[in-house]
Amino acid sequence: MTVDGVGEIEVRRLDAAEVRARLDELAAVLADCVAGGASVSYMAPFTHEQAREAFAAWADLVERDTRLLLAAFLDGTVVGTVQLVFATPPNQPHRADVAKLLVHRSARRRGLARLLMEHAEREAQAEGKTLLVLDTVTGDDAERLYMRLGWTRVGVIPNYALYPDGRPCDTTVFWKAV
Ligand SMILES: CC(C)(COP(=O)(O)OP(=O)(O)OC[C@H]1O[C@@H](n2cnc3c(N)ncnc32)[C@H](O)[C@@H]1OP(=O)(O)O)[C@@H](O)C(=O)NCCC(=O)NCCS
Repeated sequence: MTVDGVGEIEVRRLDAAEVRARLDELAAVLADCVAGGASVSYMAPFTHEQAREAFAAWADLVERDTRLLLAAFLDGTVVGTVQLVFATPPNQPHRADVAKLLVHRSARRRGLARLLMEHAEREAQAEGKTLLVLDTVTGDDAERLYMRLGWTRVGVIPNYALYPDGRPCDTTVFWKAV
């Protein structure tokens, strides 16, 4: 779809081959988010090569159908991504985790994260999932996004993780029935 003043936006699922083919674009998004101070598993300094390795490992999981990866394209280049994680125990076949919602700083505040999450919900439904769970840094932009998208806030776990610079951050846990 074309959005006035923004450009051509597309959100779609990538298979393992395309994740591998687009490692540099995906890695650029992750590395930019960490450089911007996002608490998404990694500590500073975090290199482009480390980000490539992360997506290369996720490509293997996409190939095994234990993860599903979506990408948001702006004028043909990946600027955002999100993953559904299906690695649940046998007694939770209906559940998936949402992970690594990332939008490059240059492409933020244009609704791309909302689009990625809406697509992720539809993909989850198509995979037979009825319950989604995620956690996110308390008080950051993503928390407002999930509230807007109808997720239920379970509560806050203090000092759950670290920002890339080593400061501690709280985490808010959310769920949504889809
Ligand atoms: C959280 C994150 C994914 C949001 O991405 P995004 O694409 O900017 O999100 P959206 O554009 O959908 O929404 C963000 C804001 O832009 C606003 N917005 C959306 N479309 C807009 C438009 N066309 N014009 C102006 N503002 C707009 C939204 O209302 C929202 O406002 P708010 O922050 O004041 O509540 C992004 O900031 C990010 O990657 N952060 C670092 C990684 C991270 O923390 N990920 C979450 C891990 S769980």
